Amino acid sequence: MSNRRDFMGMALGSFAALGALGALYAAKRTWDPLPSVKSAGFTTIDLSPAQENVLVTEKWRGKPIFILKQPANAPKSDREIHVAGGRYLVVVGLCTHLGCIPAYLADKKQFKCACHGGEFDSLGVNTFGPPPRPLDIPPFKISGTSVILGETGPEYEKMLAAGLTLKV
Ligand code: FES
Repeated sequence: MSNRRDFMGMALGSFAALGALGALYAAKRTWDPLPSVKSAGFTTIDLSPAQENVLVTEKWRGKPIFILKQPANAPKSDREIHVAGGRYLVVVGLCTHLGCIPAYLADKKQFKCACHGGEFDSLGVNTFGPPPRPLDIPPFKISGTSVILGETGPEYEKMLAAGLTLKV
C-alpha cells in the first residue's frame, strides 16, 4: 500500500515539476528580447518573432525601446510601422512627462506610468494625466523583417515631418 502511495506521490511530484518547467519556459519566452544585433550606435531588431499585444523591451543607446505588435483588427494609425505585413509600435519607453518607464497593461491595451499616473494607448498616444505628448519614436529604418534603430529611413522622415514625434 505504501509503495502505491509512494508511486502516486512521485508521479504527482513529477507532473507538478513538469508543469512548473513548462510555465518557466513560457515565461522565459515572453521575457526574452527579440533577436537583435548591436553595433556602434545602431541596433538591428528582427520583429518577426513578436507576438500581438505582447510588449518586448529592447535597448538602444541606453534607452529602453518598446516594441508592440498591433492586433490585425486594431484601428490603423500613422504612428505604426509596417514590416513584412505586420503592424508594430516602436517607441522610446520613457514617459514624456519626467522620464519614468511606463508599464504595459496588456488587458487594457494601455501604458501606465506609475510616477504621476500618466496613461498612453497601445500606439503610445498620451490619453490621460501630465504627459504632454505621445511616446517618442526613435530614428529607424526598415530592412526586411527588421528595424535598424539609429538609422533614418524614409518612413521615419515622414513621421518626423508630420510632427508625429520629436527627434530623439
Ligand atoms: Fe510619467 Fe510623470 S513621469 S506621469
